[in-house]
Amino acid sequence: MPTPILIDCDPGHDDAIALLLALASPEVELLGVTTTHGNQTLEKTTANAIRVLEFVGREDVPVAAGADRPLVRDLFVAEYVHGESGLEGPELPPPTARAVNVHAVDFLAERALAAGTPVTLVPTGPLTNVALLLARHPQAAQRLGRIVLMGGSIAEGNVTPAAEFNIWADPEAAARVFSSGLDITMIGLDVTHKAILTDVQAESLRSSGRTGAMVAELLAFFSRFHRRTYGFEGSPIHDAVAVAHVLRPGLVETVDRHVAVDCESTLCRGRTVVDLWRRTGNEANAHVGVDIDSSAFLELLVERIRSFDA
Ligand code: RIB
Ligand code: CA
Repeated sequence: MPTPILIDCDPGHDDAIALLLALASPEVELLGVTTTHGNQTLEKTTANAIRVLEFVGREDVPVAAGADRPLVRDLFVAEYVHGESGLEGPELPPPTARAVNVHAVDFLAERALAAGTPVTLVPTGPLTNVALLLARHPQAAQRLGRIVLMGGSIAEGNVTPAAEFNIWADPEAAARVFSSGLDITMIGLDVTHKAILTDVQAESLRSSGRTGAMVAELLAFFSRFHRRTYGFEGSPIHDAVAVAHVLRPGLVETVDRHVAVDCESTLCRGRTVVDLWRRTGNEANAHVGVDIDSSAFLELLVERIRSFDA
């Protein structure tokens, strides 16, 4: 029986690949996609989600647009990483369908309440929609089986030295999610930066068919930022790691620890303060990713992307 999942995302190159991984995986059933501000404006992330679904003929998966800005902070989009469209690289046709006429937060609640078994929510962007779900539909939020989010880090930052982008973009929303009492798994940079899809692996997709070629185009653009910034010979597919963790529970090693989000500091805005050595005595509120079977993840990802063209 496939696990029902909902993906709340900000496509974004790695979000797009995470969507494709979910669609290609029989272990899960993608009930719907919701979109948020983040890598680009809400208008663009919503259009990109629809474009990806339409590219692989999955217009049946509904897309609901959500928050166009953080709860409190000013909107900041990561155009420097994902480009003007938010999905630079491939020539993707403009979307033909529109998002459903329901706000993402209400859509998430409806799907969580209607599902026969608890739904896994996979947020791969800023957590604004998830925080709003907790506020507006607490009962529906409680019906979620778990939340497996891409965000945060024990150590390094990427948008600042202290913080990872999804958490930094809306720290108040993230703080609300981590203090919700729900079953939270945090897939952070400590894990995603250990699983780099190399340029060679990305290029090998080009010959596998139209979807593989499209993904290769995405990665050719996405890897420029990572080569320039980190010297990587490829790209971390951050958001796909969160989906892969749902598909293969053993892929990412986690430890149960307390996570707090710094919403006070300027220097450390959005830092996930992970109590790795349990110095505070605070009860664990998240399963925190600490390691990954990188080769198994990358093999799974490439195999599933290739399956679109098999
Ligand atoms: O820091 C990486 C995360 O921020 C990824 O989810 C990427 O898509 C951006 O949203
Ligand atoms: Ca994302």
